[in-house]
Amino acid sequence: MGLFITFEGPEGSGKSTQARLLYERIQALGYPVILTREPGGTRISELIRRILVDLRHTEMAPTTETLLFSAARAQLVSELVRPYLNTGGIVLCDRYADSTFAYQGYGLGRDLDELHAITTIATGGLQPDLTFYLDLDVEAGLQRKRWARDRGSEASKAVSSSGPPAEWNRLDARDLAYHQRVAAGFAELIRNNPERWRRCSAEQPLDQLAEQIFAAVEPILERVARLEPH
Ligand SMILES: Nc1ncnc2c1ncn2[C@@H]1O[C@H](COP(=O)(O)OP(=O)(O)OP(=O)(O)O)[C@@H](O)[C@H]1O
Ligand SMILES: [Mg+2]
Repeated sequence: MGLFITFEGPEGSGKSTQARLLYERIQALGYPVILTREPGGTRISELIRRILVDLRHTEMAPTTETLLFSAARAQLVSELVRPYLNTGGIVLCDRYADSTFAYQGYGLGRDLDELHAITTIATGGLQPDLTFYLDLDVEAGLQRKRWARDRGSEASKAVSSSGPPAEWNRLDARDLAYHQRVAAGFAELIRNNPERWRRCSAEQPLDQLAEQIFAAVEPILERVARLEPH
């Protein structure tokens, strides 16, 4: 039943850049593959994303935030991810449920069991086959994003070649201690489930990182049938 690969990590660690590079490489090899993101990826989920990232929404309650992420995820899984996996394709997703545990759980202090219950409702229990953790110092990642923002995202566009530039949003704007708790949360998630995760240093040049990621994916590509040549 297809292959589900997700990208996680702190802000500005290169998730969107690497997800796109992997997508282009797998597609060029002739495999059926889609690239999507969270929150977002469907019409309804992208509308929910706008509410979540809006810098003006400072009054949003943690429960609202958690449920909106979950609602966006439920729509993405049911409309796009599951149907595509059921056709035997590869789904690459820029963030997924692990981010809820890291950000709303460890970051905002929501009860982890409660998050498990909500996430199971949203996803029907769908778990990635493989998750890349792009490991970067929290401050370095936020700095990369600030540079991209301040330079009008020109550098970001040049490096990541396609897709939207890194945005500066409501969740990025939280304090450093919050982002540090999130990073520690990811470390805990990896410890609890090491076989699913591949931890990669995001400090290396992006081409080198892309090679490392592809090398981890290549052996499992054989589970997926290539598209018929036209
Ligand atoms: N390996 C790298 N080395 C240096 N800079 C990089 C690297 N990878 C990406 N960048 C730059 O860092 C910034 C953030 O990259 P990107 O948007 O891919 O990260 P992200 O993890 O998706 O961020 P976000 O948290 O906003 O989703 C961009 O300006 C990008 O060009
Ligand atoms: Mg991104």
